[in-house]
Amino acid sequence: MILQEDMEPTLNFEIRRAGLEDVDAIAAAHLDSIRSIGALYYEPRIVSGWGARVNGELYAKAMARAEVFFMAIEPGGPGEVLGFSSHRIGVDAHRTAVYVRARATRQGIGSALFRTAEAAAIAAGATAIHVDASLAAVEFYTANGFEEVGRGEHRLWSGRSMACVFMQKELTANGPGRTGRYR
Ligand SMILES: CC(C)(COP(=O)(O)OP(=O)(O)OC[C@H]1O[C@@H](n2cnc3c(N)ncnc32)[C@H](O)[C@@H]1OP(=O)(O)O)[C@@H](O)C(=O)NCCC(=O)NCCS
Repeated sequence: MILQEDMEPTLNFEIRRAGLEDVDAIAAAHLDSIRSIGALYYEPRIVSGWGARVNGELYAKAMARAEVFFMAIEPGGPGEVLGFSSHRIGVDAHRTAVYVRARATRQGIGSALFRTAEAAAIAAGATAIHVDASLAAVEFYTANGFEEVGRGEHRLWSGRSMACVFMQKELTANGPGRTGRYR
């Protein structure tokens, strides 16, 4: 392997279930992800609306409604959340979402986070999992075994809409680890 001097060092990370004490740190990671990565795919007013209601209380309320969150942290690092995933049982389907800080992307953290959410869905009896994927994440979800089932708009708190891709992954008894084309 050739190591270049300007290469970013690989992050050490571990994943654990998030609790109420983590909600503010999750919100900070969510905002970083939206404002840095999301901004590469959407115009500023959409990015602004996307992050407008992101705060710790949002996750505390979601946890109270039985949504589960998993977060990646860097042992010995600055203590910030590198990224997070979630699983919830929606009105019509099991749903997930994954967000990673810009400084932590393309190191397998998002995929590891997704696998924990996928395992939670399987444990809850899901046979499929859905996501309204942002344009910034379509290739990521595809790499993790999702297929596009449609395109449309995701309604933001602000009333604005953001373009998204509706994606679905069938879950089998083989469980997590069987992640489509990814590794
Ligand atoms: C999408 C996101 C979660 C991916 O996180 P990540 O930690 O970089 O993902 P991984 O390192 O596990 O990537 C796994 C594979 O997905 C694909 N992938 C991930 N990001 C990609 C990108 N920007 N472009 C193309 N392919 C990508 C690649 O195949 C990658 O494997 P490789 O790095 O070996 O090529 C992250 O980019 C993000 O937070 N985006 C902004 C927020 C967002 O839109 N989240 C989804 C909300 S629905």
